[in-house]
Amino acid sequence: MTVLENVSLKEFNTFGVDAKASLFTSVNNQLELQKALKDPRFKNPFLIGGGSNLLFVNSISHPVIHINIGGIQIIDENDDSVIVSVGAGVKWHDLVMWALKNNYAGIENLALIPGNTGTAPIQNIGAYGAELKDVFYNLIAVSLEDYSTHIFDENDCEFGYRDSKFKNEWMHQYAITTVRLLLQKNNHFVNTQYGDIEKILAQKNISNPSIYDVAEAVMEIRKNKLPDPKVLGNSGSFFKNPIVSKEKIDALLQEHSNLPHYEFTNEFYKIPAGWLIEKSGLKGHREGNVGMHAQQALVLVNYGNATGKELWEFAQKVQYTVQQKFDITLDPEVNIIE
Ligand code: EPU
Repeated sequence: MTVLENVSLKEFNTFGVDAKASLFTSVNNQLELQKALKDPRFKNPFLIGGGSNLLFVNSISHPVIHINIGGIQIIDENDDSVIVSVGAGVKWHDLVMWALKNNYAGIENLALIPGNTGTAPIQNIGAYGAELKDVFYNLIAVSLEDYSTHIFDENDCEFGYRDSKFKNEWMHQYAITTVRLLLQKNNHFVNTQYGDIEKILAQKNISNPSIYDVAEAVMEIRKNKLPDPKVLGNSGSFFKNPIVSKEKIDALLQEHSNLPHYEFTNEFYKIPAGWLIEKSGLKGHREGNVGMHAQQALVLVNYGNATGKELWEFAQKVQYTVQQKFDITLDPEVNIIE
């Protein structure tokens, strides 16, 4: 086991923040992970995967374990479907491309989501009308307390909108090592309902789209709206879309008749945080190294060498401004590591 000291995590977070870890190791399989967890130097570790959903506000005092477990394997199949077992360190988008190459349906709408497969269940990643939970079979996790191995299914994980038990009761209790998905070989259900997917398919004269066509459309939309973290540090949507009551929606509609809103559950509605930020005058607003993206107001951007503190202080200003204007609290979707 290679242990490094005083390591920059700049390459390990998509914001590109130069936070330091006092102790760092990378593990390539479950046995290495268990060995690292048992090492007294790695007590109370901070686990890092693709680093696409976190903001390091300060240096990391906890020892860092980078989960770098690879491998994509079919572990079961019948005429219609396959169960695919994926190492937690596999890049999510690489998995999407692998599935498309093999013509396995289910994750094409989730193309180009940054981050690793092992962290996808933690926040139940979603985009363009699909969510991880729709294809989830089960996962393998190692307890950080006694290093035992567990298999958790969909019910155990309690998935919600950008949420799961790993963000709540199970926070800092498990390391996910493997995720298994159920993908369809035949009779693909092609989901083109969300946003601009149908518009793009129509432009291309595609009337009977394949999963590949859908993935291409999604990639086109994402590339137009969302900055590439390799070019501009960011973490995708920085805030969750707030969920508000029917009364609140009715009151807002009095003033803003064009307010976009989507029914979430009976009596509750989701409002795009990007709209609220835009209407607060902050779309494309920049202060020094930090700003809200000009094409998608929900994306906080590092324009240069912003520190975690600068990013977080700017995000808090955005929260404050939206709160003042709309009396709505924006909750970060990204994990804030203070
Ligand atoms: N909008 C604006 N101004 C903006 C951005 C959005 O007015 O600057 C309004 C528009 O009305 C637009 C609507 O918001 O039609 C929805 O925008 P978009 O389709 O871009 O989706 P979103 O709600 O802002 C969510 C996810 C994204 C995901 C997209 C597509 C959350 C927090 N974000 O964004 O996920 O890619 O839908 O499904 O749920 C991520 O989690 O990192 C992420 C990028």
